[in-house]
Amino acid sequence: MCEGTGDSRVTHPSGLQFAGSESCIACHADISERHAQTPHYLTSQPATAESVKGSFEPSHNLVELNDRLRIVMEKTPEGLYQRGIVSDSTVERRPFDITIGSGRQGQSYLYWHEDALYQLPASYYAPDSVWTNSPGFPADQIVFNRPITSRCLECHSTFFKMGRAVGEIETFDPKQVLLGVDCERCHGPAAKHVTFHGENPDVKDPKYVINPARLTRSQRLDNCALCHSGIRNNFMPSFTYMVGDRLDDFSTPAYEADSAATLDVHGNQFGLLTLSKCFRMTDMDCSTCHDVHSRETGNLQLFSTRCMSCHTPDTEHFCKQETMPGLALENNCIDCHMPKLPSRQVFVQSGNHATRTPFFVRTHLIGTYKAQIEKFLEGISN
Ligand code: HEC
Ligand code: HEC
Ligand code: HEC
Ligand code: HEC
Ligand code: HEC
Ligand code: HEC
Ligand code: HEC
Repeated sequence: MCEGTGDSRVTHPSGLQFAGSESCIACHADISERHAQTPHYLTSQPATAESVKGSFEPSHNLVELNDRLRIVMEKTPEGLYQRGIVSDSTVERRPFDITIGSGRQGQSYLYWHEDALYQLPASYYAPDSVWTNSPGFPADQIVFNRPITSRCLECHSTFFKMGRAVGEIETFDPKQVLLGVDCERCHGPAAKHVTFHGENPDVKDPKYVINPARLTRSQRLDNCALCHSGIRNNFMPSFTYMVGDRLDDFSTPAYEADSAATLDVHGNQFGLLTLSKCFRMTDMDCSTCHDVHSRETGNLQLFSTRCMSCHTPDTEHFCKQETMPGLALENNCIDCHMPKLPSRQVFVQSGNHATRTPFFVRTHLIGTYKAQIEKFLEGISN
């Protein structure tokens, strides 16, 4: 998704140019069409009435922090806005410019100001379809001045050209932006590939583009771990890592307790998977179970066929669960061996309640979860 306008091509610090995923459609129609439905593609978008999932209907369009403090969401012909109100007077009003999050669990919103990006005070919490105070924001104050770091964008987009930092605040070139985790995030900037194959339609041997399937296992894993290994300590600038690079040359995993105060950290699928027997005793990678070009969310039967590519029913590596009426093991290996567990790291303050609701995330530590299995079996026998 290309937000920038004009002729200037978006250019990576390495000098390689991006083409934008619109240009892939001509030759990769099927993948492009499927990919456009994925949470990756939708994880950052221009904020519009369509991409913003929260309601703008009266009485559903607000967060009340207390009797005096309110944030009101407004839909006007000029665009979408958040208005901060203290004791009935407006203290600040800012536009929704960018939506972060496809909306499976929630969304946050950003606005531009002098080439920097700031997080708006109200976010959307999908499980309850409500607006909430943004994660980690104070409950007794309306805050419009929390800057967004490049690291946040590095995980939720394909590219933002960095500008010069103003004090502690990072700046970006709004014309050199590629939203969504798009094709060129995983395949590298591909302008040369597009030009070459456009000019040489008879060449079927791919040029100037990276297919992760041809890399080593650790390179393939790094390409996903960039964003799926929790918070990392960067010692190179954001957006410099490219597919094929060694991630440890750019950042190291952070082991200290993650802060529950920000949305900075989410699932660490990479770290958990690497502790699993399935992973340690085979050469599996993320693509063993995930077709990243397709939206497969919630299709547990399909994921179970991927387990059974190794755990076939006729071998001793198959499940030891006793059979019982109503239980078809083949339909769902997942809820017993990779249950959804509450994420200790992502909490939101829902509506005007002070309760903190955890996100539930699929654990990638594949194992046998006795408590979840009991619950699952109860659900079947009822
Ligand atoms: C003018 C046609 C054309 C366009 C446009 C095009 N490609 Fe390709 N691409 C090809 C051809 C031809 C191949 C080789 C045959 C195949 O794998 O389909 C290929 C192969 C690939 C491969 C596999 C490479 C490998 O080593 O196996 C990737 C990845 C890829 N393209 C990504 C992209 C991306 C991303 C875009 C858009 C930025 C894009 N392509 C735009 C023609 C094109
Ligand atoms: C640039 C960062 C980035 C990279 C690289 C990345 N992801 Fe993601 N991924 C995300 C974000 C952000 C989300 C959450 C999207 C949302 O819902 O807003 C996500 C979501 C997912 C999901 C859940 C989507 C669903 O359908 O339910 C899967 C599975 C996934 N990623 C697998 C992978 C794999 C496999 C790789 C490597 C080939 C990879 N990701 C590389 C950032 C990334
Ligand atoms: C280390 C990479 C990383 C960083 C940094 C990061 N995120 Fe995420 N974010 C993810 C991944 C991966 C997911 C998908 C969660 C999962 O399923 O594990 C996600 C999920 C989300 C979601 C929920 C998306 C949905 O559709 O359910 C929101 C909203 C979000 N992030 C906002 C932010 C904001 C705002 C920041 C910066 C302040 C941020 N994230 C920083 C990787 C990251
Ligand atoms: C999250 C990372 C990610 C994104 C985003 C992504 N791909 Fe891929 N792509 C991969 C991986 C990983 C493979 C290798 C899969 C495997 O191991 O078989 C691949 C393989 C391919 C191939 C080789 C043929 C094939 O089907 O395996 C093509 C062509 C391709 N991608 C094009 C695209 C295009 C075009 C887009 C955008 C519309 C895109 N990809 C988006 C990760 C990604
Ligand atoms: C052994 C199979 C398997 C492997 C390997 C695997 N996953 Fe998953 N993953 C799953 C299943 C099953 C789900 C749950 C899908 C659902 O509920 O829709 C899932 C869900 C996810 C989600 C969404 C989590 C959530 O709850 O929102 C992300 C993100 C993800 N995987 C990333 C990865 C990454 C990155 C890798 C590689 C480090 C990886 N996965 C390797 C099976 C696997
Ligand atoms: C690439 C092959 C492969 C895939 C795919 C795979 N596994 Fe495994 N798994 C293994 C191997 C090998 C072992 C170790 C067997 C042993 O101990 O002899 C194992 C072990 C296990 C164990 C025992 C774990 C323990 O710590 O004792 C469970 C449970 C399991 N797998 C479930 C699954 C589920 C569920 C899936 C799909 C989400 C899956 N596996 C996908 C290869 C795989
Ligand atoms: C109702 C919950 C449930 C479902 C569904 C389920 N399992 Fe299991 N699984 C178990 C239990 C319980 C054990 C036994 C653990 C023990 O006794 O140590 C087990 C054990 C295993 C083991 C370890 C076997 C060994 O040699 O020790 C593997 C591998 C496994 N399951 C794979 C699968 C696969 C693949 C599927 C889907 C086809 C699946 N399971 C579905 C509950 C389940």
